[in-house]
Amino acid sequence: MTSIRFVLNGTDVEVAGQPATRTLVDWLREDRGLKGTKEGCNEGDCGACTVMLSDERGSRAVNACILFLPQLHGKVVHTVEGLRSPDGALHPVQTAMVAEHGSQCGFCTPGFIMSMATGHLNGETDHDTHLAGNLCRCTGYAPIVRAAEAAAKEPVPAWLAAQAAALPDVDAPEGVALPRSSDELAAWYSANPEGRLIAGATDVGLWVTKQLRDLGPVAFLAGVEDMRGIEITEDAIHIGAVTTLAELLPAIAPFYPGFAAMIRRYGSAQVRAAATLGGNIANGSPIGDSPPALIALGATLYLRKGDERRSMPIEAFFLDYGKQDRAPGEFVEAVSIPRGPDRLKCYKISKRFDQDISALLGCFNLTIEGGTVTAARIAYGGMAGIPKRAAAVEAALIGQPWSEATVQAALPAFKHDFQPMSDMRASADYRMQAAQNLLLRYFLEDQGLATDVLEVSA
Ligand SMILES: Cc1cc2nc3c(=O)[nH]c(=O)nc-3n(C[C@H](O)[C@H](O)[C@H](O)COP(=O)(O)OP(=O)(O)OC[C@H]3O[C@@H](n4cnc5c(N)ncnc54)[C@H](O)[C@@H]3O)c2cc1C
Ligand code: FES
Ligand code: FES
Repeated sequence: MTSIRFVLNGTDVEVAGQPATRTLVDWLREDRGLKGTKEGCNEGDCGACTVMLSDERGSRAVNACILFLPQLHGKVVHTVEGLRSPDGALHPVQTAMVAEHGSQCGFCTPGFIMSMATGHLNGETDHDTHLAGNLCRCTGYAPIVRAAEAAAKEPVPAWLAAQAAALPDVDAPEGVALPRSSDELAAWYSANPEGRLIAGATDVGLWVTKQLRDLGPVAFLAGVEDMRGIEITEDAIHIGAVTTLAELLPAIAPFYPGFAAMIRRYGSAQVRAAATLGGNIANGSPIGDSPPALIALGATLYLRKGDERRSMPIEAFFLDYGKQDRAPGEFVEAVSIPRGPDRLKCYKISKRFDQDISALLGCFNLTIEGGTVTAARIAYGGMAGIPKRAAAVEAALIGQPWSEATVQAALPAFKHDFQPMSDMRASADYRMQAAQNLLLRYFLEDQGLATDVLEVSA
């Protein structure tokens, strides 16, 4: 049982006696009677539960259904009930939604309003992107996007900006492990090697809401400041494990725009604001999006257990389905990507463009010198039980002229590297065919052909 403090809609609240894995949406609706925050999917997909979360890193829209109460300690939360100004006026996004007829049944509306208000506060102009995590089944998106565009012309309410910036002064919480440094985390994990780490909870959250699992002792990583952030040196890009995908995107874009473009398609704004790079690696999923990019870039993974640290090429971490090279009490501390000429492209294949898990994902990083392939790093997700390098395909390319004939000659090697499975996302045959086509796409794109399916050119 825990005791934590945060500010809710301008009022200080202390929450005591709650299980560490109680979700914000349950607490708001059941304990506070704040039923504006809706529960739709309860798994981070629909955005009906969106709230605004603010701290020293700014304000972001997050899904309250996969957000545990201890993740709020020391932060500021706004729900739809907290958007009306002290003089009773509606927020500009609410006024615009009324004027543009952006709501019909209204179930999705509070979630949209909170994403829009957060985007408005942050000066977002790419409304398609920042609203992609909110689903509406009746109105259609055009009136909603028109409302976001209209609201963007209005100033941010000063009272809301002031409330979002007024963080409560808090001490360490009671009854819950919220380490403030990697040293504190290492000590907790050594003492609780069977305990569960919770970073963004975009994976763990579903174990609670969908599988109804009891997680036992847990530690929350959100406050481990020395494991957050990105340091750029002359040779490398060093990324702390607690860095979110939303934070990584703009930082990696100048160096590897193909990685950034792939992150843009990772979940939704709400998911990227919560999910961490460390969590996306540590969970070992064969369809996690960042590992193939990191493998193709030759990244190094840093692990820590107590005071002992070790590192490895990231592909060595993934041993088998559900099995990683990580001992009890050991955690992912950071990842480092070597800097070099940008030759990376990542292609994500999923049924929807936004907010969908990959059926497969291919990342390519080939070096061509004097028209010959001199080095190749190719990695796929969704093609095996782990994110996996295409070693036979790489071998078939290296030393060959960079030509379509070489690519065609390398395609049979895919069968040596991968025996994909059929599941609800794709059949084995589809995966194999698509994986081969992605190599061809990389080649064609390298020759200057337009391959982006979202861009139509004459
Ligand atoms: C709606 C939705 C959409 C999604 N879309 C995508 C997508 O497009 N692409 C994609 O790849 N994934 C996607 N995911 C999955 C999810 O974001 C990732 O699997 C991932 O776990 C993100 O990290 P997290 O910080 O939220 O991890 P958590 O859920 O907090 O943790 C996941 C696992 O990693 C462990 N862990 C976390 N941090 C560490 C650490 N530093 N050291 C050791 N262990 C650690 C935890 O104990 C747990 O076992 C989506 C999830 C949702 C809910
Ligand atoms: S209820 Fe659907 S994202 Fe939370
Ligand atoms: S108004 Fe009905 S789901 Fe959006």
